[in-house]
Amino acid sequence: MRKVVVAASSLPAGRNMSAQIEFLNRIENYGADVYHLDVMDGEYVKYKTIDFTYFEQLREKSALLFDAHLMVKNVEKVIDKYIKSPANIITVHYEVFETPEALIKILKKIRKHKKLAGLAIDLDTDIKVVDQFLKYTDMILIMTVKAGKGGQSFNQDAVKKIKYVRSLNSEILIEVDGGINDKTGATCVKAGADILVSGNYIYNNDAYEAIQSLKGKNG
Ligand code: DX5
Ligand code: ZN
Repeated sequence: MRKVVVAASSLPAGRNMSAQIEFLNRIENYGADVYHLDVMDGEYVKYKTIDFTYFEQLREKSALLFDAHLMVKNVEKVIDKYIKSPANIITVHYEVFETPEALIKILKKIRKHKKLAGLAIDLDTDIKVVDQFLKYTDMILIMTVKAGKGGQSFNQDAVKKIKYVRSLNSEILIEVDGGINDKTGATCVKAGADILVSGNYIYNNDAYEAIQSLKGKNG
């Protein structure tokens, strides 16, 4: 069994800085490994969330790995801000690029600045599109709900998507995001996922117990 990495999603804590800091402290104290910073622009998806302007202040409060999930349409316009920010992983969506070359250019740029480059595949996109990008990517983010909001139900098709990516490459990081709890998380880990993103399950339960259960340490 691979080591499970738990990434708590920033989304349930909203756009208020003190609520963000409170949640970040809570999940760090209770054993999360990563803070997954959900960035929505109101264009690729309907809602707007925190953006890079929050990252510096959050960085001062925490030593956790910062994983920026950019659900934004115009990546070219904002990528430099995220590269300059304290994010350690920067993940962009396949769906927002007009050509494979444009996406590869961004992935290369992220890596050139010594950050991990993630590629997110939204729920309705054929997972096979990842093939041509694997060598430019450190992490594949498999959406297990449609990107855009928290609290949705896990889509079981994710299992074969995870197995597919794992069959292509045994080393690449696989992250799953959406509807992850102790049960769906265990299913994903068994299929080959490394990083479990979880929002509402951690936010609305006892954070320590939720994080431990995601790590497979049940009671
Ligand atoms: C949704 C975001 C997720 C979200 C997950 O588009 O990318 O990170 O916060 O929330 P839950 O775990 O509640 O499904
Ligand atoms: Zn996310």
